[in-house]
Amino acid sequence: MARTRTSSSSELLIELRRDATGSLHGQIERALRAAIRDGRLTSGTTMPSSRALAGHLDVSRGVVVEAYEQLAAEGFLVSQQGGVTRVGSTAAAASEAVAAPSPERPRIDFAYGRPDVTQFPRGAWLRSVREVLNVVPSDLLAYGDSRGVAELRSALAAYLNRVRGMAVQPDRVIVCNGFAQAISIVGAVLKLQPGARVAVEDPGQRDPIDVAERVGLPWVPVPVDDCGVSVPALDRSAASAVVVTPAHQFPLGSVLSADRRADLVAWARDRGGLIVEDDYDAEYRFDHEPIGALQGLAPEHVVYCGSASKVLAPGLRLGWLVSPGRLVGPLAAAKEASDRGSPAIEQLAFADFLARGEFDHHLRRMRSVYRQRRSVLLRALARDAPELVTAGASAGLHVTAWLPKGVDEEAVVAAAHDAGIRIAGLAGYWVEARDRRPGLIFGYGTAGDREIEEGVATIGTLVRASRATTRTGSDGPP
Ligand SMILES: Cc1ncc(COP(=O)(O)O)c(C=O)c1O
Repeated sequence: MARTRTSSSSELLIELRRDATGSLHGQIERALRAAIRDGRLTSGTTMPSSRALAGHLDVSRGVVVEAYEQLAAEGFLVSQQGGVTRVGSTAAAASEAVAAPSPERPRIDFAYGRPDVTQFPRGAWLRSVREVLNVVPSDLLAYGDSRGVAELRSALAAYLNRVRGMAVQPDRVIVCNGFAQAISIVGAVLKLQPGARVAVEDPGQRDPIDVAERVGLPWVPVPVDDCGVSVPALDRSAASAVVVTPAHQFPLGSVLSADRRADLVAWARDRGGLIVEDDYDAEYRFDHEPIGALQGLAPEHVVYCGSASKVLAPGLRLGWLVSPGRLVGPLAAAKEASDRGSPAIEQLAFADFLARGEFDHHLRRMRSVYRQRRSVLLRALARDAPELVTAGASAGLHVTAWLPKGVDEEAVVAAAHDAGIRIAGLAGYWVEARDRRPGLIFGYGTAGDREIEEGVATIGTLVRASRATTRTGSDGPP
C-alpha cells in the first residue's frame, strides 16, 4: 500500500481573519484548496480531525466540519470509515495541473544537493515572520551592521556551539547570502594577503575554483580519498589556505578521519594556514550523531561556512560565516562592500525560528524523511544496479556510486537524460586527470520512493548495456 502522510493542524498554515467579510469556514476551505493545489498537501495525506483543527484554530467544530464537507463534495477531501479524512485524488490532478512539468523538467530527478522544498515549514516560518513584524522596533529595519542583526548572530552562535561543537562568539559571526557569497568574500580577503594560494579538494565543488579565478587568486588541487583530504599533499602544495568539506566530502561523501582532522589542524598551526570549512549538510547524519565541526578544534585557524540551503531551502539565500578574530574586520568589510548586509526581516525571522526550537524540529523531521529515501535508494542500487559501488558515509542528500571500469560515464548520463532522468556524473568535479574514476551522484532529496526505484532500475540497465558495448567493442576488430 502507498505510504501516506499525516498532517498536523499546525502544519496546515491556515490563517483566519476574524475581521474579514468572508465566513470562517470559507477561509478554511480556501486555505486548504490552495495547500492542495500547490502540492503542500498531497493525495492520501491524512487530515487532522475536525476537533483537533477546530481546537488549533479556536473555532467551533461545526465550522471545520462544514469546510471539510464542502471540500469533500468538490473532491479535494475524502471521508473514510472511522471518521478519517484524507486528501483526495482530485487533489493530485489539481496540483499536477498547477505544477505541470515543463518540457525540460526530468521525469526522475537525481540532481544533487536539492532539499525537498515542498516540506519547507511554512507555518512555523510564517509565525516567525509575523512575530518579527509585530514586535521588532523600526530601527532594526534601517541600515545596520553588515555582519547581520545581533539577534541572529547570537542565535546562530548558540546553535553552532550546541549542535556543531563549535567555539563561537556572536561578534565573529557574519550572516551572508549562502555559501556562494561566503566563499566570494573569503576569496576577496585572501586575495589581499601577499603570496596567498588556495588549495581545493580534488574532486570537489567548483565554487572555490571559480571564486579564485574571478579574483585572481592562485589555486591548487589536493587529492581526496576515503578519509578526506590528503594533508601531506596539502603541505607539499605550498598553499596558504584550503577549502574543505570535512563532515561530508563533496562529492565523494567521506568524513575527514580523526587522524586527518588532527593533521589538518597541525598543518594550519605550523604553517599559519587558514582552513575554510564548508559545513553544507553536516546536520544530516543518519547512522549516528554528526561529527563536530573542525572550527571547534582551532577557532583561530578556521573560517567556518554554514548554509540554510540544504537544511531549510536554498531560495532563502541564508548562510553564515564564523571567522577567526583577525579576519572579522576584513570579512565584514568585504560583506559591506558586496551588499551592505543581508535582508533584515529574513534574518530576524530565522533568529526567532532558531530560538523557538523550530529549526531543531524541522531537522528531526527531515532527517527521518531523507534517511528513508536514502535507504530506498541503497536497496534499489543493491538490487537493480549491483555493478555500481557506493562510497561515503551515511549522511547528506546524495550518494556517490562508482561505475565499473570501462563504462563511459558521459554516455550513461546522456542516455539517462534521454530516458527522462536527471543525474550528474563525477566528471565535472575532478580537477586533475590522474586519478579520475567514473561515477554517478544520486541526489535523493526530492525524488519519491517509486521514482528512485524506477530511476535506479533504468540506470542499472544502461550501465549493463554500456558494459556490453564496451566489451563487444574491445573484442572486435580495430
Ligand atoms: C559543497 C557545497 N557547499 C555549499 C553549498 C551551498 O551553497 P549555497 O549556500 O550558496 O546555496 C552547496 C550547494 O549545492 C554545495 O554543494
